[in-house]
Amino acid sequence: MTPLLLATNNRHKVEEIRHFLASLPFEVRSLADIPNGPVTVEDEPTLEGNALKKAREAYAASGMLSLADDTGLEVFYLRMEPGVYSARYAGANPTYKDNCDKLLREMQGVAVRRRRAQFRTVIAIVGKGIERTVEGKVEGMILESPRGGQGFGYDPLFVPTGHTRSFAEMSIEEKNTLSHRALALEKAVTILSSL
Ligand code: IMP
Repeated sequence: MTPLLLATNNRHKVEEIRHFLASLPFEVRSLADIPNGPVTVEDEPTLEGNALKKAREAYAASGMLSLADDTGLEVFYLRMEPGVYSARYAGANPTYKDNCDKLLREMQGVAVRRRRAQFRTVIAIVGKGIERTVEGKVEGMILESPRGGQGFGYDPLFVPTGHTRSFAEMSIEEKNTLSHRALALEKAVTILSSL
């Protein structure tokens, strides 16, 4: 089994990625398993930059092949915001609800046909002699009020195209068949399998 360090403290991401990789020959660890793991400041202007920074710092601290995910919700009406600022959309240290409430305020009164959005995930893989990034994205629309109690972040506000339920109304398994993160992970697995 190849050890693989997930460079995140976000337990929801760890859960989704663990589920996704469950049948593959990786011994998955997360930063919670690493004493004195890095706390990366996500100050790059792009998802690619932040994902690479997280994976590089995790590799430097652990020597283990490291995988980091950076995700943004890009709303077309808001000219692709909050994007790379999705985590701190409502200010410093917001709750998921604070961020969702702010998005709902910004989108108040906006017609259904103008509520298109996409989730975009960039995954970086960094290890000995390797630095790669891959991307996954999924289009959908922003609801007018939250729906569902599963998932995390903006999941209660996002319905993927071709579906009627929000990500927060889906199980992890179902979200993992179509999400931005799952699409990026598929590409990441191709790279990991070739190492
Ligand atoms: P980051 O990738 O951890 O920087 O996440 C950016 C923001 O997007 C955070 O507010 C997350 O809660 C949110 N986010 C990340 N991935 C997802 C997802 O799969 N669904 C909903 N929100 C997400």
